[in-house]
Amino acid sequence: MAGIYIHIPFCKKPCFYCDFYHVISVNDNSAFIDALLKEVTLRKDYLEDETVSTIYLGGGTPSVFSIKDLGTILNHINKLFRVTEDCEITIELNPDDVQPAYLEGLKNHNINRISLGIQSWRDSDLKMLNRRHDSVQAVVALKETLNAGFENVTIDLIYGIPGMSLKEWESNLDFSFSFGIKHLSAYHLTFEPGTVFGKMLKKGTISEIDENDSAAQFNILIEKAESAGFVQYEISNFGKPGYFSIHNSNYWKQVSYLGLGPSAHSFNGYSRQWNIRDLKDYIKSVNAGKSFFEREELDIKTRFNEYIMTSLRTMWGIDLEYVEGMFEKEGYDYVVNLAGKFRNYGLMKLEKKSLVLTNQGKLISDNIISEFMMPGNE
Ligand SMILES: C[S@@+](CC[C@H](N)C(=O)[O-])C[C@H]1O[C@@H](n2cnc3c(N)ncnc32)[C@H](O)[C@@H]1O
Ligand code: SF4
Repeated sequence: MAGIYIHIPFCKKPCFYCDFYHVISVNDNSAFIDALLKEVTLRKDYLEDETVSTIYLGGGTPSVFSIKDLGTILNHINKLFRVTEDCEITIELNPDDVQPAYLEGLKNHNINRISLGIQSWRDSDLKMLNRRHDSVQAVVALKETLNAGFENVTIDLIYGIPGMSLKEWESNLDFSFSFGIKHLSAYHLTFEPGTVFGKMLKKGTISEIDENDSAAQFNILIEKAESAGFVQYEISNFGKPGYFSIHNSNYWKQVSYLGLGPSAHSFNGYSRQWNIRDLKDYIKSVNAGKSFFEREELDIKTRFNEYIMTSLRTMWGIDLEYVEGMFEKEGYDYVVNLAGKFRNYGLMKLEKKSLVLTNQGKLISDNIISEFMMPGNE
């Protein structure tokens, strides 16, 4: 069982917070599509004949592509990989690209999971983030998606936005749960160097919200999601039972995946590859059949650190039997000894044979994870 991620690197307008690789252009995608199809062929053996049970079209903005172009990409993948009948196929849509005919087209290509980039239901936030859409377009897009018969619909929201009060965040959540969504991804705003917000932060023209406000917003998120029937199966991801993202869960469970397109990552259990983060260079290298990625063989410490980093963010936590089998007694003792301190502080708990973060621990998950990291070989 494996997954395929496809990165479509085009956006119509830059959001001020976003560090995902994208270029501001929507015209003339044909050179990119040609290269992408070539990359599919070049890398058809990467998954070693494993069946593909998830495909994720992300970006950038996959919804800048026509149905015909999306169909060409998916058909080519279907020809060269063993894609399961009930494969979870997700596409990220920007609300202002959503149209009934477009949604029908997606269904015709067996796309069965829609991720809508709502971010906030408040126009002042959307303006501040430099989003293309407004709140009316967001509501229409979500209603149309649900009316089109998509059952598995998720939305993205951002909290920790400067100027957003706790009450406003609460009403963003209430409003989201008033629709029949099955999944929510809620991310705390991060200020990434190189983005407009990152530069503004450096200059002092914007500031991060207070730590206590962040904690309050995170706590209310957990509370409201839970009472609306959602399970927090990862720090930023909440799903109704039966609707957790299989694709993302596989990333956290060390399942192999192939990443296609500029900046996409691939993983096969023992090595990780990064495609070049530049559209022109990507197209040039793929066309020349030259290597367009960097590759890192993962030594045992790196694999251990990656396992901790991903598993501790999920509701399944660190599986102690897996740790013992994979990293032997040394890894097991290391984890159990370190966990003792966090358990005493009420930040971690033992559930069956797994170590999971408590709600209090989730608030400082990054700090806890970094304490678990094993230093590399010098
Ligand atoms: C690849 S992006 C976007 C997909 C789609 N292009 C869109 O904008 O709706 C995936 C999600 O990551 C989140 N995100 C990206 N950068 C972020 C940041 N700096 N802070 C918080 N959330 C961020 C946003 O919620 C976004 O929808
Ligand atoms: S958030 Fe989405 S639309 Fe905005 S720049 Fe990033 S990828 Fe593009």
